[in-house]
Amino acid sequence: MISLSDFKHEHSPHSIAVSVKDLGLTYTTSIDKKPTLKARLKSLGRGKKHTRIVNALSDVNIDVHYGAVLGVIGSNGAGKSSLMRVISGIVPPTQGRVEVYGSVSTLLALGVGFNPAMTGRDNVYLGGLAAGMSREEIDKNFDAIADFSELGDAIDAPMRTYSSGMYARLAFSVAAVVEPDILIIDEALSTGDAKFKEKSLNRIKELRSSDRALILVSHALATIEDVCNEVIWLNKGTLMARGNPSEVIAQYRTFVNARKSASSDEDV
Ligand SMILES: Nc1ncnc2c1ncn2[C@@H]1O[C@H](COP(=O)(O)OP(=O)(O)O)[C@@H](O)[C@H]1O
Ligand SMILES: [Mg+2]
Repeated sequence: MISLSDFKHEHSPHSIAVSVKDLGLTYTTSIDKKPTLKARLKSLGRGKKHTRIVNALSDVNIDVHYGAVLGVIGSNGAGKSSLMRVISGIVPPTQGRVEVYGSVSTLLALGVGFNPAMTGRDNVYLGGLAAGMSREEIDKNFDAIADFSELGDAIDAPMRTYSSGMYARLAFSVAAVVEPDILIIDEALSTGDAKFKEKSLNRIKELRSSDRALILVSHALATIEDVCNEVIWLNKGTLMARGNPSEVIAQYRTFVNARKSASSDEDV
């Protein structure tokens, strides 16, 4: 039996962890207008479909290297979560491709693989298995994960009874203890209490390593600037800038402020 910490990482620092090439993602959703019976009868047999098309990502190109702590910023609806979903393999790209180069316990996106109908305990196993751990490794790390989450007895309650903060706490705890090669954290730090937030942030700092890649999506620009060594800014599905955190954040702030003065109530 080898422990997780015994795993030898095969990639050298600065080798590519995630490669995103010419990525496009289009959501096609049927519009649920709750049509009247009459309208439904009228459209019956005519194969008429009401669909809405959203171009969530267009022409996105990024390489994420091992050693990177990549911050992802942008307004609501910019495509940040969509990009994370494609990288995690939850959603297939409409165009282009995404390649993930990891070795052992490859990629963990928080909460991916969790099933709300199951208990926190069972979901630790689901999440751990999704990240490439074996059952034995999860057994060995279970107490550490449960302790980190501070959920107490709630670990044996179904996750649908959890608050979003509790959900995020367990998701983060799995990732923090599993120590995957590539870790994606999408907004998970924005829920939960200040104390847990600080604990998580410290853990993220500990996880920074030349043979790991961290991708952090957050609206907390100060946190991004504090923790990350690179930032990308997405707007309306396109990559606006990439580079050093303080510079990209400054560009984004200027953009947001200009837009704010142009339209005072727009959501940023
Ligand atoms: N499952 C989905 N079906 C249809 N449209 C979606 C879906 N998820 C996101 N979108 C749309 O895609 C765009 C990008 O959303 P998202 O990736 O969630 O942005 P962000 O995380 O930056 O707020 C938005 O216009 C959003 O409404
Ligand atoms: Mg999002």
